[in-house]
Amino acid sequence: MKLSELTVKSYRNLEDNKFEFSSGINYIYGNNAQGKTNLLEAIWMLTGTRSFRGSKDFQLIKFNKECASLTGNSMLEGRSQEIKINFALGKRKIFLNGVAKKSLSEIVGKFRAVLFSPVHLSLVKDGPENRRKFLDAAICQLKPVYTRTIIEYNQTLKHRNALLKSILKNHKNSYFLDVWNQKLTELGVEVVKFRMDYLSQFIQNLKQIYSEISGTQERLNLSYVSTIKKNDLNLCSEKEIESNFLNSLKNNELSDIKSGSTSVGPHKDELDIILNEKSLRNFGSQGQQRSAVLAMKLAEVAVIENKIQDSPVILLDDVMSELDENRKEYLVSKLKNRQAFITGCDNNLSKSVDKIFKFKIFNGKLVNKQFN
Ligand SMILES: Nc1ncnc2c1ncn2[C@@H]1O[C@H](COP(=O)(O)OP(=O)(O)O)[C@@H](O)[C@H]1O
Ligand SMILES: [Mg+2]
Repeated sequence: MKLSELTVKSYRNLEDNKFEFSSGINYIYGNNAQGKTNLLEAIWMLTGTRSFRGSKDFQLIKFNKECASLTGNSMLEGRSQEIKINFALGKRKIFLNGVAKKSLSEIVGKFRAVLFSPVHLSLVKDGPENRRKFLDAAICQLKPVYTRTIIEYNQTLKHRNALLKSILKNHKNSYFLDVWNQKLTELGVEVVKFRMDYLSQFIQNLKQIYSEISGTQERLNLSYVSTIKKNDLNLCSEKEIESNFLNSLKNNELSDIKSGSTSVGPHKDELDIILNEKSLRNFGSQGQQRSAVLAMKLAEVAVIENKIQDSPVILLDDVMSELDENRKEYLVSKLKNRQAFITGCDNNLSKSVDKIFKFKIFNGKLVNKQFN
């Protein structure tokens, strides 16, 4: 996967421009608040997923403008393709090779990227929601059909929760819950299957990469803690997961009605990150947490490469300055033969990189471009 060109129009503070990128390392540098992250975010938007800053479309359009557009030309499996996204207030238009698509989800999987930024430390530090999002987003890029599964699961969950509330408020008959229980179970099993399949490869890569980064005997592991079944889900058949989920829904029905929300299911499952048998979140040092997040990101890259024999584009926003020399070098070594976009403040990226395209951004404008 290589992004050769990106045309931006009225996107954030970026001046209208057509960027031509190298298929190796692209280093985007400049002072704070000049538009470096905006450029990375513009590239990320081509993946068809949400802005990694959680921004709404109106925030992406340049102040005082009515619409913005991004056009990316990339290579997918040896063929060139063009992804175009028009953002207008309240309306979005997406084109793949000139053909209009109904929603962004239709282009998921056409342009794959893995992003690593300092906000990803929250993957370890924050609650389970971020980790579930990380997992689901990683799977969506790899298996675009999963996007539909997740959307349908969440819609069904919403219906069930609405009914739970109305049972309590309007004394509605709980009989109708069975319909939603059934649907939620079927979709929930799908979600769990996708996650298990992904994790089996992900965890293997994660362990290996972490030990390479840390260079010590420390062992990083990850475990999927299900609200459906406490035992190892990998050992359960689909039927078992399904009946366990249905039973859990039934067993928790009364408390769910009281709280107006569904207490069990993949939307409540947790990913525990464990270092040497202890919770990394509770006991890990800052350095160990950083290494773990870096390992998670690189494992994400590795799984994509194993499954589709193509590298995702790697986006590193402001992470280089946060890493010590060893980890920086390790990361740079992993960028070989891959396309990367890296942002930073200094003019120089790292001693260990020789061929590099540099883009200097000042006030949203590309002011200097050089190759060395
Ligand atoms: N919709 C927008 N229109 C114009 N400018 C914007 C918009 N959204 C953000 N900005 C500006 O972009 C700048 C931040 O750019 P950013 O890429 O985050 O900087 P950095 O170079 O530090 O990564 C800020 O000055 C901010 O005001
Ligand atoms: Mg930035």
